[in-house]
Amino acid sequence: MKRENKSSDFHHIGNKLLGWYGKNARDLPFRQTKDPYKIWICEIVFQQTRISQGLNHYNNFIRRFPDVKTLAEADENEVLLYWKGLGYYSRAINIHTASKQIMNDYQGSFPDEYEEILKLKGVGKYTAAAVSSICFGGKMPAVDGNFYRVLSRIFADDFDISNSRAFSYFSQLASLIMPDNVGDFNQAMMDLGSEICKPKNPLCGECPVNDDCLAWSMEKTSDYPVKTKKVKTEDLALKYYFVHRNGQFLIRQRKDDFIWKKLFEFPQEISFELEPFIKNIKTVTHKLTHKNLTIEIANVEVASKEIWNRFVTQNQYIITDVEGSHEKSFPKPLENYIQNSLKD
Ligand code: ADE
Repeated sequence: MKRENKSSDFHHIGNKLLGWYGKNARDLPFRQTKDPYKIWICEIVFQQTRISQGLNHYNNFIRRFPDVKTLAEADENEVLLYWKGLGYYSRAINIHTASKQIMNDYQGSFPDEYEEILKLKGVGKYTAAAVSSICFGGKMPAVDGNFYRVLSRIFADDFDISNSRAFSYFSQLASLIMPDNVGDFNQAMMDLGSEICKPKNPLCGECPVNDDCLAWSMEKTSDYPVKTKKVKTEDLALKYYFVHRNGQFLIRQRKDDFIWKKLFEFPQEISFELEPFIKNIKTVTHKLTHKNLTIEIANVEVASKEIWNRFVTQNQYIITDVEGSHEKSFPKPLENYIQNSLKD
């Protein structure tokens, strides 16, 4: 069924969702506050990370950086360190940049309008809608994958979510059911989407709006949402050298923003003098959003002190060890390699 055919009053659906949320809202730390700083951080953390996986990170982050000013004054590497394990590190860099923006452009007080929040680095329509509705009574739906799934099922709507107009289409659809309290409605949709209206095996028997759900009535929930285009991914091969001696190894910080911007990595080339010290090469694979990586890591144990010294001084590598590496953020596959490296 297409939106044009729908009559305008579906607000009872939104109200039922609010009622359900009132009784079943998950007890999450950021639900005890309306502090926009904390809500912003939680929206960024939990946009690409499950609540169960990110909750400790969120709590630790807020403990260390309890407000915009503390974050803006922090060293970028420390911010990255607190992001360690969450992945998608550009989120951490953007949060840090945006905190300075708030200090400089908004005298340290968080902007309270959707359009202004949207100007912050790394903040998209979803995050701006979530923060403005939860903290300031804003009226924009926080449309994300949960909204696509819940709404396409309720209306058995086959609008293709890979279409570039999907965001605005589902925003309009959301407005058909949206009650006045948009902040709670947005969070109800998030909770419903992750707890009940799940991508696979949704718990329709427990759904507060199953009576209103066309897909459920036709036993066709697995047909929605419709997505035709797959995300394009490319294959990419990388080579690293784990150059070590007496428990110490060499690293440097990435500068370009091709991938893993500002994370630490191993050397990607070695001098011919080091080649005889290559003990073995391990191949690991790793998936990024748009890339399938195949990473070869050569284990180079440098037996000669002179050659080690020469290589270190000729290149500007940082010398570290497993202990010291805990203070730095590495891409996941390199992090794993470090953890296993010195065992064998
Ligand atoms: N995921 C991202 N933000 C959330 C929120 N405010 N409530 C529940 N889940 C979320």
